Amino acid sequence: ATLFFEPSTRTRLSFETAVNRLGGRVIGFSDASTTSSSKGETLKDTIKMVSNYVDLIIMRHHLEGAARYATEVTETPVINAGDGANQHPSQTMLDLYSILKTQGTLHNLTITMVGDLKYGRTVHSLLMAMKYFNPTFRFVACEELRMPREYIEFCRRQGINFEEHTDFSREVIDSTDILYMTRVQRERFFNEEDYLRLKDSYILTLEKLKNAKQDLCIMHPLPRVNEISVAVDDDPRACYFKQVRNGRYIRMALIMKMLGIE
Ligand code: NCD
Repeated sequence: ATLFFEPSTRTRLSFETAVNRLGGRVIGFSDASTTSSSKGETLKDTIKMVSNYVDLIIMRHHLEGAARYATEVTETPVINAGDGANQHPSQTMLDLYSILKTQGTLHNLTITMVGDLKYGRTVHSLLMAMKYFNPTFRFVACEELRMPREYIEFCRRQGINFEEHTDFSREVIDSTDILYMTRVQRERFFNEEDYLRLKDSYILTLEKLKNAKQDLCIMHPLPRVNEISVAVDDDPRACYFKQVRNGRYIRMALIMKMLGIE
């Protein structure tokens, strides 16, 4: 079952494609307003009910910790397809796979994360997963959208090198192996004015890439709003559409793993 309490295009279609290609069948919803949640049904009851229909639950929810909570109320395996501003682990699996394919290794890379590092869950999950591979991080964000303290502390505890920048400078870009762009997470802002003020803080243009490494990998979990100029799409270093395809493979593998299929 794909239970998407929050909007999604890629992640839901990617998981559903993966299920279909494996010969499985899928039920679910992509708009919680058409379900009994809108009648007041608790998450617990929805999960317990759906568990009786399916072998695997894939869920996205606006509350942080929602997927973990679901695992406490059902024996059916649950995949977290994004919980609020917290984590997005299946995106990280496909990000790791994309990095491995383009760089030939996951080790000793300089990774620059740009944009909404506060509410962007994909960067939180990727940061934690990279701890096994001796990364060097650059976090580029404006003051209000900085990488949260808990992840900064995580880097310190793990002995991971990192720098924080407010400037998206050529210097930072030129010495980067992986440039991970993110969109400002409008839906997590409480006020539209702040969103409008911050949304165009960092935009990647061809001009900025002039002296960037030849084997730079430009990533974005998508959807893109305007953080990457469309002119960059034709640059061979743009990896974001390849990431989407890798997501399909990774999610097929993940589903098999979760169901104990060799
Ligand atoms: C991301 C998400 O939902 O966190 N999208 C995705 O799953 N590929 C990133 C985003 O919405 O900005």
